[in-house]
Amino acid sequence: MKEFNFMNILITGGAGFIGSAVIRYLIKETDHKILNIDKLTYAGNLESLKEISNNSRYQFCKTDITDKESLTKIFQQFQPNAVMHLAAESHVDRSISSSAEFIQTNIVGTFQLLEVCRQYWINLSEEKKQSFRFHHISTDEVYGDLGESNSGLFKETTPYAPSSPYSASKASSDHLVRAWHRTYGLPIIITNCSNNYGPYHFPEKLIPLTILNALQGKKLPIYGTGEQIRDWLYVEDHARALYQVVTKAKAGETYNIGGHNQQKNIDVVQKICNLLDELVPNKTYGISSYKDLITFVPDRPGHDIRYAIDASKIKNELGWVPQESFDSGLRKTVLWYLNNQEWVDRILTGEYKNWIQKQYQS
Ligand code: NAD
Ligand code: DAU
Repeated sequence: MKEFNFMNILITGGAGFIGSAVIRYLIKETDHKILNIDKLTYAGNLESLKEISNNSRYQFCKTDITDKESLTKIFQQFQPNAVMHLAAESHVDRSISSSAEFIQTNIVGTFQLLEVCRQYWINLSEEKKQSFRFHHISTDEVYGDLGESNSGLFKETTPYAPSSPYSASKASSDHLVRAWHRTYGLPIIITNCSNNYGPYHFPEKLIPLTILNALQGKKLPIYGTGEQIRDWLYVEDHARALYQVVTKAKAGETYNIGGHNQQKNIDVVQKICNLLDELVPNKTYGISSYKDLITFVPDRPGHDIRYAIDASKIKNELGWVPQESFDSGLRKTVLWYLNNQEWVDRILTGEYKNWIQKQYQS
């Protein structure tokens, strides 16, 4: 791809956990213009973008990616050189209790975005057509379960075998994106990454949930035995990887992105407890260590046992490697939650959500 000095990058889901990290990175480290389109579901928080929201290269438009008419106007007005598509329903447990929104946003929304994007792209000049990229951000969960054995890694060629409604919806969207490349020639790229963690992570996910529950003296729920393994990737390493991919990757390529950090869930929770025992020695809840709050609860239905990424392709072809070790990244994350109580309070009380809904009535 020809790298423009000043690209217009359209980001979907930029008010979410990873999307906001990508936008903070792009505004701070590059000269590109960014348009963030986001529906602001329960998981979208513009507060996560506060430090860059006054930058003249950043704009926000409250938009649902299933709304074809709005998307068409947005493409015409903003004239993007690239799309980074992160908008999705992202939480596995929610997909198990209620899957309709996952089908709607992750599958129908991706379809609408692809179609609007294709209509826009087809009318670009030959040069702009060639350099355009539709970057679809997906998950390692599409590959299914690596099972009990400690060997084996997900490669870009691993067959798809999704287990949950969430991962099935993401697998469907990946198939649509590849079909739009093969059939219509849309210059797409797909990345499949492992579990992200870091600042601004919504406190329904294991790491922020554990930190915040512990600080409130609440139980720390571990599903099943806690022996399941995830490959943790620091969100700022991921943002850097996505930028490498969108600016350097050839159209049609797929890259797996992982942190080389395989950890059992029980070990993750114990490490957080150790950090909190050091940083916030507990005097309130009648416990000697935060580990006393660990509680084994019934397992997640269909729970995949192990995910682990082979990230050698992105390393060899694009020169990206993760910089954060799990211990350093986890310490930074715990410290961030300790120092950003205001962000947490607003999200937990819903006060921020009510305020922001009024600001951006569509
Ligand atoms: P998130 O839930 O934190 O954020 C998702 C964002 O999408 C929110 O801001 C939400 O408001 C927005 N959104 C949801 N539905 C929308 C719609 N219909 N129209 C417009 N915006 C909508 O998710 P995340 O953790 O930041 O994940 C971002 C992407 O990365 C997702 O596609 C997810 O599948 C993928 N992913 C996430 C992880 C992870 O560990 N978090 C790992 C692998 C892949
Ligand atoms: O692998 C990438 C995926 O990682 C992304 O595609 C998803 O969007 C993202 O949500 C994440 O999915 P997980 O299901 O792995 O994340 P979660 O934080 O919900 O769970 C991590 C592990 O911890 C998982 O094995 C389930 C377990 N868990 C989770 C919670 C919330 C618990 O044991 N207790 C809990 O309370």
